[in-house]
Amino acid sequence: MTVNEIIIRTARLADADAIRHISGRYAKEGVMLERSTEDIIENIRNFLVAEENGQVIGSCALSFFTVHLAEIRTLAVIDTFTRRGVGRKLVGKAEEVLSEEGVRTAFVLTLNPDFFLSLGYHAVDKERFPQKIWRDCTYCPKLMACDEIAMIKDLEGATVDSPLSAVGRNKKSEP
Ligand SMILES: CC(C)(COP(=O)(O)OP(=O)(O)OC[C@H]1O[C@@H](n2cnc3c(N)ncnc32)[C@H](O)[C@@H]1OP(=O)(O)O)[C@@H](O)C(=O)NCCC(=O)NCCS
Repeated sequence: MTVNEIIIRTARLADADAIRHISGRYAKEGVMLERSTEDIIENIRNFLVAEENGQVIGSCALSFFTVHLAEIRTLAVIDTFTRRGVGRKLVGKAEEVLSEEGVRTAFVLTLNPDFFLSLGYHAVDKERFPQKIWRDCTYCPKLMACDEIAMIKDLEGATVDSPLSAVGRNKKSEP
């Protein structure tokens, strides 16, 4: 059996439709927040795509909050390509890019904690995250009924509290 090479690269404008298609399908299922083509185009340099035989089969995006804290979001792999390590590769590359930027902590908001657990993330209380983190939540249909699990990974062995120390503790913050 031929094993095709999966390339992880920075997205190009021409990938916007494919990213929209892949993530849009999961958004319709309520698994992730919908992102418009305009939003994807505006943020295209923060997207990574997985490509096999010239086809975009998965993508994820980076979203920076402080110089030491960033989110990995909009992670999606076409269902017929799952469980082949594509998601792991995308997250690995995202973490590499974040580390190069000096980001110490990556976080995710997810309904699929088992996947991220397998990649070394652990759950934290999302109520303890600063209000800043919720900048996208206003656009989410779930809003206050958010059922996503916040998970973090220390990219250089920082402590669990590091996201808060980067922007100051704000116990009053609400989603
Ligand atoms: C979650 C998702 C990105 C995983 O992509 P993937 O390419 O299948 O992941 P990988 O093949 O790299 O899996 C790596 C490991 O993660 C774990 N894993 C992957 N999918 C899992 C799942 N659905 N449930 C539990 N563990 C899972 C497994 O340990 C897996 O290793 P294994 O196959 O050797 O057992 C993909 O299923 C997807 O797009 N889901 C819908 C959108 C979504 O939930 N995005 C993430 C949150 S925003």
